This record gives sequence, structure tokens and C-alpha cells, in this order.
Amino acid sequence: MNIRWLKITDSTNLEAWRNKDSCDDMTVWAAEYQTEGRGQRGSRWESEAGNNLMFSILFRPKGLRAGSQFTMSRICAVGTALYLRDKGLEARVKWPNDVYVGDRKICGMLLENTLKGDMLADCIAGIGLNVNQRIFSPELPNPTSVLLETERLCGKAAGSLDIHQELELLLDRIGTLYSAMGPDGRVPGIDSGYEEMLYRLGVSAEYEETEYFTGGEAVRFTGRIVGVERETARLVVEHEDGRRVKYYFKEIRYVL
Ligand code: BTN
Repeated sequence: MNIRWLKITDSTNLEAWRNKDSCDDMTVWAAEYQTEGRGQRGSRWESEAGNNLMFSILFRPKGLRAGSQFTMSRICAVGTALYLRDKGLEARVKWPNDVYVGDRKICGMLLENTLKGDMLADCIAGIGLNVNQRIFSPELPNPTSVLLETERLCGKAAGSLDIHQELELLLDRIGTLYSAMGPDGRVPGIDSGYEEMLYRLGVSAEYEETEYFTGGEAVRFTGRIVGVERETARLVVEHEDGRRVKYYFKEIRYVL
């Protein structure tokens, strides 16, 4: 992949948006610091300068139907989890596209897609991975980093990682999955690979149906994730009474 390193920018996703029309498939913008880092659901993404990975990949997949656009999330999430597993960390994908180690969030993603008719024209995949950060804002519920998790695993202090080198390793994992995409937009094994890596798969845990789902008050329940619907990417959760309910992103919240 062609990487453009920046010392500082507003957001690598915005950088990609501004430049994408003159750039090729798999161009990457990476920043040591972002002044306007953007997160999911309109939140901000805060990350220490020079210590973590903040980057966006421009993908221009050929043959990927709009209805299968979640394939891009699957590629990025599974690729990141595989990179972390290469380091011995027990990484899992928290639907739709966070990556967790144990019950802690190590990586978040913001994918922004452009459609042309019923095809995906391009996808800007913004990825924030905590690498060397040790101290986080108390407002974040459960953050962690590669360094903290490596120390937890080894039971001793670890040295900082070189973020440039880590980006190469991570892009290698993501790029290998992306390069396996056929002319029909299919990536062999990606749906099952994503599902097997799901955080809380088959485990009884607490969730909340949000107001988008209930149309009224949010409702807490105990359930078990049983999978992700292939095309729509809805999360399938089995309730204690045996009902299997499918949720879009905004319709369910994990109680952590
Ligand atoms: C989340 O809220 O979990 C998603 C966070 C995504 C952060 C990354 S950092 C690189 C890219 N640029 C941004 O402004 N956001 C994404």
C-alpha cells in the first residue's frame, strides 16, 4: 500500500475525502496527531500524539455490490484482529467494527462509503488503534493498548513499539484479505472468519434495545449473540425466551 505519513492533520478520514479523486485504490493517510479525530455516532476520537495509529485507507473495490458493503468492515476488523493475534493477544471483533482484547477496546473504526448506483464506488476506512498509550481519559469506559495488553500477557514491562513498523504489519494483514476479493466482490471465508471472531459469541450477557428499536424507552435484556446476518449485517441475538431478534447498529447497545 502507498502510505502518506502526516505529522498533524484534522482527521485522516477528511484528508482522504479531500484527495480521493486523484488517488489509487489502497492509498493510506496516516497521522501522528489529529486535531478533529472523528469517532462513531458523532463522537470524537482522542489519541496521544505519536503514540498510536490513526490512519485511513481508500479502497476502490471492483464488483462489490452496495448490499454487500459490510464486507469492507469485515476485512478491516478481521485483519486488525489477526494482526493483534500475531502478537499473542486474544483479539475479538465487537460488532460492527470495534476490536477488543478481553473486555477492553483497543481499536475503533469509522468506514465511510460512496455508492454509484447499486455498487460501492469507494470506501474510506478510518482506523484508530491504541499502540503505546498507557493513560486514557477517565471518560472512556474500557480503553486499552497493544503495550498494556502485552504487559498484561507477559507479566512484565514492555518497550514502546515503532508505530511506522506496526502500520506496515497491520496493513499487510488487511491488504492480504482485500487482495483475495474476487471480481464478484466475495472474499473467501471472510463471513465465517468474522463470525468466529465475534466478541461475546454464544455468551450470555446484558444488552439494551435502544429507543430506535423500541420506539419508546430503552429496554435491557439478557441474551446471547448467535451470529451476524450475511447481507444486512444485522446482529442476531437470542433472548432468554428463545426468540432470535436481528438488530441494526443503532438499535442495540452492549452493556459493558
Ligand atoms: C470509534 O468511535 O470507535 C471510531 C474511531 C475511528 C477513529 C479513526 S482514527 C483515524 C480515522 N480518522 C478519524 O477522524 N477517525 C478515524
